Amino acid sequence: MKAEKQEAFLQLIDQVKDAGRTQEMKNFTQHGRISTYYHCYSVAETSFRLKEFLHIRVSEEELIRGAMLHDYFLYDWHSHEGPLHGFYHPTAALSNAKEDFELTKKEQNIIYSHMWPLTITKVPRCREAWIVSIADKIVSTKETLFQR
Ligand SMILES: [Fe+2]
Ligand SMILES: [Fe+2]
Repeated sequence: MKAEKQEAFLQLIDQVKDAGRTQEMKNFTQHGRISTYYHCYSVAETSFRLKEFLHIRVSEEELIRGAMLHDYFLYDWHSHEGPLHGFYHPTAALSNAKEDFELTKKEQNIIYSHMWPLTITKVPRCREAWIVSIADKIVSTKETLFQR
């Protein structure tokens, strides 16, 4: 990534990575030894790289905020009782994020739809949501395969 683009990414992520309860995601394990916080950071970075690489025009701020908050469910899913995590957590993440942030419609859609097609009725409805959904699958696969 070009230096000025790297700088743009860092400025955007800086605005959200310490806000609300984002730092609390460090307390929860996502895959292997990777925390949910680090996972979300990686998804934000991968989303940004994807849109640069493919020259997709997006709202960079909404893309990064949505990506950083896409798994803002704030519990350890390995020991969580209740509905199946894969289906349920986008709803929990969106509800928590709405408590702490003023979210745009796009940001809400990014969080709500990122598990599509598992959550078949929660469909990505903007380029930003498609990118984050794909970046999440790339990052999750890498984390699961290589970071144990
Ligand atoms: Fe997720
Ligand atoms: Fe995720």
